[in-house]
Amino acid sequence: MSSPDPTPVIDLIEAFRRSKTMFAAVKLGVFDRLERGPADAATLAAELDAQTEPLERLLDACAGLGLLGRQDGRYANKPVAAEYLCRSSEHALTGYILYSNDVLFQVWAHLEDAVREGSHRWKQTFGLTGPIFDHFFKTDEAMRTFLMGMHGFGVLSSPKVVAVFDLSRFQKLVDLGGATGHLAIAACERYPELQAAVFDLPRVIEVAREEVGRSSVASRIELLAGDFFRDALPEADLYSVGRILHDWSEDKIRALLEKIYARLPSGGGLLIAEKLLAEDKTGPTPAHMQSLNMLVCTEGKERTVGEYRALLEAAGFADVQGRRTGAPLDAVLALKK
Ligand SMILES: C[S@@+](CC[C@H](N)C(=O)[O-])C[C@H]1O[C@@H](n2cnc3c(N)ncnc32)[C@H](O)[C@@H]1O
Repeated sequence: MSSPDPTPVIDLIEAFRRSKTMFAAVKLGVFDRLERGPADAATLAAELDAQTEPLERLLDACAGLGLLGRQDGRYANKPVAAEYLCRSSEHALTGYILYSNDVLFQVWAHLEDAVREGSHRWKQTFGLTGPIFDHFFKTDEAMRTFLMGMHGFGVLSSPKVVAVFDLSRFQKLVDLGGATGHLAIAACERYPELQAAVFDLPRVIEVAREEVGRSSVASRIELLAGDFFRDALPEADLYSVGRILHDWSEDKIRALLEKIYARLPSGGGLLIAEKLLAEDKTGPTPAHMQSLNMLVCTEGKERTVGEYRALLEAAGFADVQGRRTGAPLDAVLALKK
């Protein structure tokens, strides 16, 4: 009997090398520099404080990965790199890449211990104990990198998340843990009558102020500092939680959902933005990977619509519907009868 094709295994052996190649090039500033014009390896090495020959290997690898072009020994950004790998682009994914390089790559190194012990790896990796967001936000720079990481995927997802359900009957949206405000911005852009608020921890609200301030709907978005576990929730007929429920233990989720339900008027809604697992948990792979990611750095996990429905109905919600958006984040809407 012939052996099965080893290609999938070989591909997975190499997969982290491809990721790390892109992370290193972003961290070194290769794509940012090339936005100013093509350059050869020696020029780039001098400007980016690197050795020419090793940098040339990295640049050639990036070209092989489709991120750079090379002509007459000079490198230039491909459109995909210009759009997503340059910090100045409005669609930059560099925040999430730097966060992946500096944090996730390290904590994922202990995945097998996370599986054995069933807990995140902040202490093992960085010696950190205490609330998880104290770690994500250990320094202002770390906080900004994390938030801009969330923002990059948020900008790709939120316009679709707010469009897969008709939310036009709602008047006031409060995005709990709304970070930079991308969901509130997308919702206000789509629904011209909507008023919105971003509710997040005080340090985060300062970053939200910058992003919301740059948007065309800033006048309809309030910025509210608070703690959704401890403080009273601002009044709204629609709350949203994007990548919030997947951070926390089931007890904390239950408490938060009950608090939201109690604060909503009848007819009010809760919009959830998360990656949705298939009901039989056979995929999709990005949701599997995100669930493992939650294992190594939070208390939470990804869920199926059925699992969200069970949590939401236990808190009193009805009419729970899930929708795939085709974007990195999917959507669930639940109503208070
Ligand atoms: C994983 S991020 C998601 C951010 C945003 N919703 C998004 O999808 O881009 C979690 C957010 O929850 C916020 N957060 C964490 N604990 C919080 C709390 N107790 N009260 C309010 N916000 C909190 C964090 O500051 C962060 O902005």
